[in-house]
Amino acid sequence: MLIASLKPRTMGGTTNTGLLIYALDRAGYPVTGYDADESLQLSAWARDVDDFPCEVHEADTPAFAETVYGEMDHSRINVVDAGHAENHPDIVDSILEVADLAIVTVSPTNPDYDRLTTPERGTPLAKVIRRSAALRDSGKPPATVVLLNRCQAGANSPRKFADLLAGGGKDGSLPKWDVLSTRIPRRESIASAVGFPCDKPERKAPYDALVTELTRLGYLPAPGASR
Ligand SMILES: Nc1ncnc2c1ncn2[C@@H]1O[C@H](COP(=O)(O)OP(=O)(O)O)[C@@H](O)[C@H]1O
Ligand SMILES: [Mg+2]
Repeated sequence: MLIASLKPRTMGGTTNTGLLIYALDRAGYPVTGYDADESLQLSAWARDVDDFPCEVHEADTPAFAETVYGEMDHSRINVVDAGHAENHPDIVDSILEVADLAIVTVSPTNPDYDRLTTPERGTPLAKVIRRSAALRDSGKPPATVVLLNRCQAGANSPRKFADLLAGGGKDGSLPKWDVLSTRIPRRESIASAVGFPCDKPERKAPYDALVTELTRLGYLPAPGASR
């Protein structure tokens, strides 16, 4: 299967992608990474760090569906880190053509919520995802979930923005998102994760919870089940 990690602009996407890969590996899944962001930070992380659990292939191409996807081992959990959708819509379109699950990283703040839902320029990500249906074998967009990142402990903002996203905004007129109950906390040790060893408790626990929730929701096979 292919999981796409998406975000409209910088939101903690690469951090989440790398630590999700690390958690999937610890849960016993065979996992392979793909870096479709021109900054290539995920592939550099995998290259430079001893405990990064798998290979990450460079895959920053608008021909992702044709060239990269065709070569994948589909019995594995393949995870691709997409670049900022605002800047690389062509690559994101090609990933959405073939992804089984899209995880959209969003921070619970006004500017990040606005960039996701009502950007001043460009196409809202919900519309980009919806229109991918036209190019997919299923004729439907990929299953999509929102993962709230950089959530301040004890703050109201994660709940507030989860409600806004799930409810289609203040008046219900915007697209409605499935928001995961797993929240990635705002933490210094997560902020400094990219490019550094993964094996720290705070770089594990929230992402173990993420894998558990994705499994419970049926997006991942049960660990150890044949795929
Ligand atoms: N859970 C977190 N807590 C605090 N800071 C975070 C967290 N996740 C990411 N960051 C910070 O957010 C910024 C963007 O992260 P990055 O993963 O590079 O995002 P993206 O790939 O979306 O551009 C970085 O400065 C990183 O340190
Ligand atoms: Mg990144």
